[in-house]
Amino acid sequence: MKGRVWITGASSGIGRALALALAQGGAQVAASARRADELERLAAEPAAAGRIRAFPVDVADAGAMAETCAAVEAALGPLDLVVLNAGTHEPVRVENFSPAPFRRLMEINFFGAVNGVAAVLPAFLARRAGHIAIVSSVAGWRGLPEAAAYGPTKAALINLCEALKLDLDRHGIRVSLVMPGFVRTPLTDRNAFPMPFLVSAEDAARRIIAGLDKGGFEITFPRRFTWLLKLGRILPYALYFRLVRARTGR
Ligand SMILES: NC(=O)c1ccc[n+]([C@@H]2O[C@H](COP(=O)([O-])OP(=O)(O)OC[C@H]3O[C@@H](n4cnc5c(N)ncnc54)[C@H](OP(=O)(O)O)[C@@H]3O)[C@@H](O)[C@H]2O)c1
Repeated sequence: MKGRVWITGASSGIGRALALALAQGGAQVAASARRADELERLAAEPAAAGRIRAFPVDVADAGAMAETCAAVEAALGPLDLVVLNAGTHEPVRVENFSPAPFRRLMEINFFGAVNGVAAVLPAFLARRAGHIAIVSSVAGWRGLPEAAAYGPTKAALINLCEALKLDLDRHGIRVSLVMPGFVRTPLTDRNAFPMPFLVSAEDAARRIIAGLDKGGFEITFPRRFTWLLKLGRILPYALYFRLVRARTGR
C-alpha cells in the first residue's frame, strides 16, 4: 500500500509497527500519539526510510485533532488513508469500581476515533475519496472479566464502523474495521494471564496491510482464534458464561 497515511497511536505497539511497514512499502506516513520523543525516534529509524513524520497530538482533543489533520495534509498532501488506532486499557476491579476509568477510556478509545473521523471527513467528502480504518478489538464482541470499561469502548467502535460504512459507501469513502486478537505490545505485556494465539506487532501490521489492500470491511486475525470468538457471540448466555469461567477461573 502506497499513498499518504495518517496513523494514530503510532508511538508504540501495533501503530508503530504499522507505520514502519507502510513506510517500507513506499507510503508517506504521518505518525501521531502524545509522546513526541517516541514519534521522533520512530521517524529517525533507518527502516522508516525517511517516509515517517511526527505529528504529536492527544486524540481526545477534538480541536487539536482537526488542527493536526490540517497540518498533515499541508505537509504531505491529501490523505488516502487514516488508521485510527490509538487506544488503551484499564482493568476494572469491582472492589474499586468508579466511573473515572470508564470516562477516560471512552474519551481516548471511542471519542479519539470519532475526533479522527471528524477531522478527515470534510476533505474526504469533498474529494469523494479516502479510506478510514478503525482499530477495535474482539473484546468488543462480548463482556470479558475486568474489561467492563475497555469492552464497551470497542463495542461502540464496531457499531460506529458499521454505521459509517452504510453512510459513506455512496460517497466513495471506504471504511474498515480492524479486529485483532491478542498482539504482543506494551499494552498486553501488562496481562498476567496466558494469551492464546498471541501474534507479534509486526505480524499484526502485515495482516492489517493485507486486509486494507484486499478492501474488505472487516480485518480480523489470527483467524482461528477470532472465528472461535465470533462463534462465542451467538452462544446462549449460560453456555458463554460457563466457557469464559472455565478459561479464566472466574
Ligand atoms: N495488543 C492487543 O492485543 C490488541 C488487541 C486488540 C485491539 N488492540 C487495540 O490496538 C490499538 C493499539 O494498541 P497496542 O496494543 O499497540 O497498545 P500500545 O502499544 O499501548 O499503543 C497504544 C498507542 O495509543 C497511543 N495513545 C494512547 N492514548 C492516546 C491519546 N490520548 N492520544 C494519542 N495517542 C494515544 C499511545 O501513544 P502515547 O502514549 O504516546 O499517546 C500508543 O502509541 C488499541 O486501540 C488497542 O485497543 C490491541
